[in-house]
Amino acid sequence: MTLSPQWLDELRARITLSAVIGRSVRLQKAGREYRACCPFHQEKTPSFYVNDAKGFYHCFGCQAHGDVIRWLTDHQGLGFMDAVRELAAQAGMDVPQPDPAAARRQDERSLLREALAAAQDWFTAQLGGPQGEGARAYLRSRMVPAEVLRGFGFGYAPAARGQLVAALGHLGTERLVTAGLLSVTEDGQAVERFRDRITLPIRDARGRVVGFGGRLISDRPNAPKYLNSPDTPLFSKGTMLFNLDRAAPAARTKGRLIVVEGYMDVVALSAAGLDEAVAALGTALTGEQLALLWHHADCPLLCFDGDAAGRRAALKAAERALPLLQPGKSLRIVSLPPGADPDDLVRAGGAKAVESLLDRASSLVEFLWHAERDAAPVQSPEEKAALKARLLRHVEAIGNRDIAALYRRELMDRFSAFAFPPRQVTGRGHATRGRAGSAGSAVPQQASAALRARQSGGDGHRLAAAVLLGLARHPDAIGCCADLLARLAGLHPCLASATDILLDHAEHPGDGASLAAAVRAALPAGSADAMPIASERDPQQAADALREAVTLLVERPALERALAEATARFATDPEGAFAEQQRLRKRKLEFDTRLRHIAGKPAPRVGQT
Ligand code: UTP
Ligand code: MN
Repeated sequence: MTLSPQWLDELRARITLSAVIGRSVRLQKAGREYRACCPFHQEKTPSFYVNDAKGFYHCFGCQAHGDVIRWLTDHQGLGFMDAVRELAAQAGMDVPQPDPAAARRQDERSLLREALAAAQDWFTAQLGGPQGEGARAYLRSRMVPAEVLRGFGFGYAPAARGQLVAALGHLGTERLVTAGLLSVTEDGQAVERFRDRITLPIRDARGRVVGFGGRLISDRPNAPKYLNSPDTPLFSKGTMLFNLDRAAPAARTKGRLIVVEGYMDVVALSAAGLDEAVAALGTALTGEQLALLWHHADCPLLCFDGDAAGRRAALKAAERALPLLQPGKSLRIVSLPPGADPDDLVRAGGAKAVESLLDRASSLVEFLWHAERDAAPVQSPEEKAALKARLLRHVEAIGNRDIAALYRRELMDRFSAFAFPPRQVTGRGHATRGRAGSAGSAVPQQASAALRARQSGGDGHRLAAAVLLGLARHPDAIGCCADLLARLAGLHPCLASATDILLDHAEHPGDGASLAAAVRAALPAGSADAMPIASERDPQQAADALREAVTLLVERPALERALAEATARFATDPEGAFAEQQRLRKRKLEFDTRLRHIAGKPAPRVGQT
């Protein structure tokens, strides 16, 4: 059956959702939507909405949500195809006929699965049998516990030709060839692909064997250490991850997913109690594999070997990820000691050693920064410009506009701080530094005064000003907010001078009493009368509250932009955009509640809502 997305869209477009729902639910007009008491849960006041333009219903009480097909399946209890047939009849559309070729493909796949399952049984039997002695000795030497061997399904493919054919020949040679178990030689003979190798089944996400990796037991010149199944109708290297079927449940429980390079790294981690690890199958991570990873964890941890190849692989994966980043989805990168792989690490220090490295993983933006900073010397202006260009190339690769803007800011901040370290303080100590300005140049006093005049009075500035005044009362808290303060000043250029005064004070503490006065004097006219935040609390509490307030203020504009973007996406992806919008709205509400709580007064208006 091929119901294309286009065909389904056409079907939805021809049906008026409120007319279908209106047959069993009393709908009231409410603006451009309809409203009713939700048919999916008990309620007295209506929170169920039907939107014909967007083609979906949504209940704000129980989160029931869907399009017209979902309505028929979830409310009327029809099967998916029955719902489609009924709607097609109403819309006067013909349902596409089942595709016989697709049905045949499905049969072929289950025949191949059967062959691979039979091979898996046979390989494990060989590992336990008399021919498996050498393989067992090798696995003992690698100290893999017996229950871990069984869990992964280790097996052994004997050396002599013809044995697998003898055992599984009844399934048909052609099927064994298509399944990748036999290869056809130049003279047309079908021979076992895996011979005298330890076998490790590769399973799909549902745990069904779709291929094998085979490892040499002893060095054999000109033979690769690992031989993998060829691409077959069931198996293609770039679209799967080794051990995903077992790692996914563990990842859900632990909220974490680890990506390593080697099969044996996965096995070693599992033996140490870390079941949430997967490996690519000997190729660079693909976009499809990244999508799989993100399906199971927001921020998978790349834990590649600590050699040049491992670092290259991590950089390649990071670059592959940039165009695909979405709000809330990222990668973290663990750097292993030179020459070590996760397997070595487990053997040397157990799970503890791995955990402590995982704890120190870099964020993606940090990783890119370090990789580029260390890629070439950065001394001359030309070398600095080259570094800046390399960083901006990464920013340009990012597909999501908000994330790109945040990366640009963060990378350029780091670039400025690195390429133009703070100069000697001049005069009484204010502001020949570039933290808060653009590209590290000091903001001349006149220019900043002009900026101040232009930008004074904006909504967000008052709250930010209140935070700066709070920091002036609690200068000990400035140090821990320094990076964030620079970004806050970037968002509110009219506050740059006041921010600089605080940052200077943190490095060259002076008179506390005159600090508050100096900060107030540097604020733009519209916010100079703001009340300092957290001024009455004890120092530790105040520092925590101020740091949190700065964080919220810095992150809020990005949230605003993400919300605007989700809203703009309604036309192309109503369901996705809606869910995203709900999530972001909720988050914004939480932000504002926190801010209001910290500021200890009614909700401040921040930005343009
Ligand atoms: P590694 O050599 O790091 O694998 O290669 P490993 O699992 O740690 O191997 P050992 O047993 O401890 O020495 C990383 C991955 O690259 C693929 C395999 O998927 C392997 O797990 N590979 C490696 C191949 O496909 N063929 C090869 O010849 C080598
Ligand atoms: Mn290894």
